[in-house]
Amino acid sequence: MNGIKIRGTGRCVPEKTVTNEDLARIVDTSDEWITTRTGIRTRRHCTTETHTDLCVKAAEDALARAGVSTDEIGACIVATVSPDTLVPSAACCLQSALGLPQDILCFDLNAACTGFLFALHTMECLLNSSPRKYGLVVGAEALSRLIDWEDRGTCILFGDGAGAAVVECREGWPSSPAALGCRGDDALLRVAGPGTGEPPLIHMDGTKVFKFAVETVPQCMDQVLQKAGLSVEDVDFFVFHQANARIIDLAVRKYHIPPEKYYKNIADYGNTSAASIPLVLSELQEQGEVVPGSRVLVVGFGGGLTWGGMLIEFA
Ligand code: ACO
Repeated sequence: MNGIKIRGTGRCVPEKTVTNEDLARIVDTSDEWITTRTGIRTRRHCTTETHTDLCVKAAEDALARAGVSTDEIGACIVATVSPDTLVPSAACCLQSALGLPQDILCFDLNAACTGFLFALHTMECLLNSSPRKYGLVVGAEALSRLIDWEDRGTCILFGDGAGAAVVECREGWPSSPAALGCRGDDALLRVAGPGTGEPPLIHMDGTKVFKFAVETVPQCMDQVLQKAGLSVEDVDFFVFHQANARIIDLAVRKYHIPPEKYYKNIADYGNTSAASIPLVLSELQEQGEVVPGSRVLVVGFGGGLTWGGMLIEFA
């Protein structure tokens, strides 16, 4: 199988910033508690923006940075759990807004916070059977719609946003080493759907998810490094799902990753689920921290349960 590389990234976050002080006026919490336990200071919430608006802006930025036109796109995947409509999918809405070709697959993928990684891997498989060599992968969430404002353990965590990547697949490029998995479990993290009669709100056992994450992140990293035949020192940059700053801190300490090789933007955006990883990638590319040839190890975990790691190169 031929591999993919990331050619261009983009992002979009809503205008409205919600601070910890704003939340302390709604639930019994404090800036001190939220900052110390999570590393989050602000998050963005949609007001007038739709999920599709976020996807379109992020995708347009990624296409422009990649120098790729819409008619060169061979597939479009939007990783999300919070689209505007179940049908049409967020990816079909995006296809229509951008004018992507009509003879390609455009679909949504639900793997919660690991969605962008699942989508990257899926895109690599798809592009191997497409005559077009570029794919559009978006991670986008409007999680503020799914927040239970009576649950202080979750309402402080989540934010809205979208990140996008245009990937390229070329003959002779090795496939991207990946370790991805799932274990069906609704006890740790659940958002009810139409079949349940329950409101679609995020329920989470934060302490158990934290434990799951702390165990899973190193397992994913070890498996990807082993598949790639690389050590930590060979990797140019590490990108972690931004769920809690303490989870990232534990991982970088365990692997002795120096500060210049990883990045946190959770203070600004909170946990944006499927958008968190591409938001980081886009900021890194814009800041010149990743350049053509950079090898980035990306690690995520989330509801489902789902998890994954992937070593991806920039073109
Ligand atoms: N403000 C003040 N106190 C709070 C708040 C709050 N916002 N939330 C909970 N507390 C209280 C609890 O009630 C509890 O009080 P008690 O001891 O009197 O019972 C105390 O703080 C400790 O609560 P814990 O839940 O044990 O706190 P913890 O240190 O575990 O932090 C947190 C909670 C931040 C949710 C953490 O567990 C976490 O980050 N978990 C991981 C979440 C995650 O990674 N999710 C990713 C997947 S999400 C997805 O896929 C969509």
